[in-house]
Amino acid sequence: TLRLRLLHVVGTRPNFMKTAPIMAAAERWNRDGAGEPSRVAFEQTLVHTGQHYDRAMSEVFFEDLGLPQPARFLNTGSGSHAYQTASVMTALEPVLLELQPDLVVVVGDVNSTLAAALTAAKLQIPVAHVEAGLRSRDRSMPEELNRIVTDAVADLLFTTCRDADQNLLAEGVAAEKIHFVGNPMIDSLEMCRRKALERPILASMGLEPRQYAVVTLHRPSNVDSEDGLRRVVEVLRRLSQTIPVVFPVHARTRQRLDHGGFAAELSGCTGLHLSEPLGYLDFLALMAQARLVLTDSGGIQEETTVLGVPCVTVRKSTERPVTITEGTNRLADPDDVEAIMRAVDEALAAAAVPRRPELWDGHAGERIVGALASLPTLAYPWYG
Ligand code: UD1
Repeated sequence: TLRLRLLHVVGTRPNFMKTAPIMAAAERWNRDGAGEPSRVAFEQTLVHTGQHYDRAMSEVFFEDLGLPQPARFLNTGSGSHAYQTASVMTALEPVLLELQPDLVVVVGDVNSTLAAALTAAKLQIPVAHVEAGLRSRDRSMPEELNRIVTDAVADLLFTTCRDADQNLLAEGVAAEKIHFVGNPMIDSLEMCRRKALERPILASMGLEPRQYAVVTLHRPSNVDSEDGLRRVVEVLRRLSQTIPVVFPVHARTRQRLDHGGFAAELSGCTGLHLSEPLGYLDFLALMAQARLVLTDSGGIQEETTVLGVPCVTVRKSTERPVTITEGTNRLADPDDVEAIMRAVDEALAAAAVPRRPELWDGHAGERIVGALASLPTLAYPWYG
């Protein structure tokens, strides 16, 4: 048996639901193939960089998604982009030297993703990037730079949509490195959907299905400037006069709201329920039964598409255009409160129809594992 040692790196909330289905699929692969001597078997190690460290931003997701405890926790924490990226690199390098994995698997576009990919590439350890090729074409977003650099150093690029393949090809990435496998985030959604709907979260918040809106906002472009924050507060005030609003507040946003002195104004909005960040199952339950979602998240644009919940994304661009052309998503200019409220009205009037972009079928993890197990022998050093 050829043993392929995978080292998965996670760091932040939106990483966990992408890595979990890949690790689970590799375990199933091992079980199904036990006793077949010619088959690849996977050994897996999970490393948590510690970019997110609060229980509500991290630990809860391990429980909800059935992720194994990380073998290493790098404890890097918060800081500027340079600091965060550098501390993940510094802490990860000795771990990679010690464990000598055959392949480092990174997901998404956060600072931990970039740092891990770069560290591995410099040690000549092959890198697989899951969710490769997404481009917003807005380089003021830190995630856009993370995507570009991660893809440039990755050896294997697993994509969630056809436009990502096109983006990579246009940047000169060799076609044989690119594998269109579908969306592992949707694997987690499908796996957890039933369990999520059993959660008593709606009742505990006094909500009726399809009669409330869910808001999540945390992008620096929306919450880091005082003007941006003021517009966010105005949108929350107006939206909560139309429909009950639940807003689980991200750690970054909470800090900015408290700092900016907006807490009092928000507590005056009777239809607005601010909560702590929620776990995966509770948030999925809330999102699945909402009438509307207003967000600036990347992943939520995808999840609402599959759930059939109209979504307004408060951003000028999206790296996930299939959620608009083949989904329930629409963009609204963050600088224009009236435009956001118009988009909200359109979304409230829209039919709630689940949509399923190509290969968003709950089996992306299996495709990734299948691709890893059947790579052409000579092209990849770990088969040499
Ligand atoms: C990061 C990602 C972003 C992703 C988001 C999801 C980057 C560049 N950004 O943004 O792409 O959408 O995660 O949540 O990687 N904090 C806590 N507790 C925590 C983590 C953070 O209180 O567990 C606070 C800290 O004050 C920190 C701030 O939140 O300074 C921001 O955290 P950080 O990891 O820098 O970026 P996010 O805004 O979470």
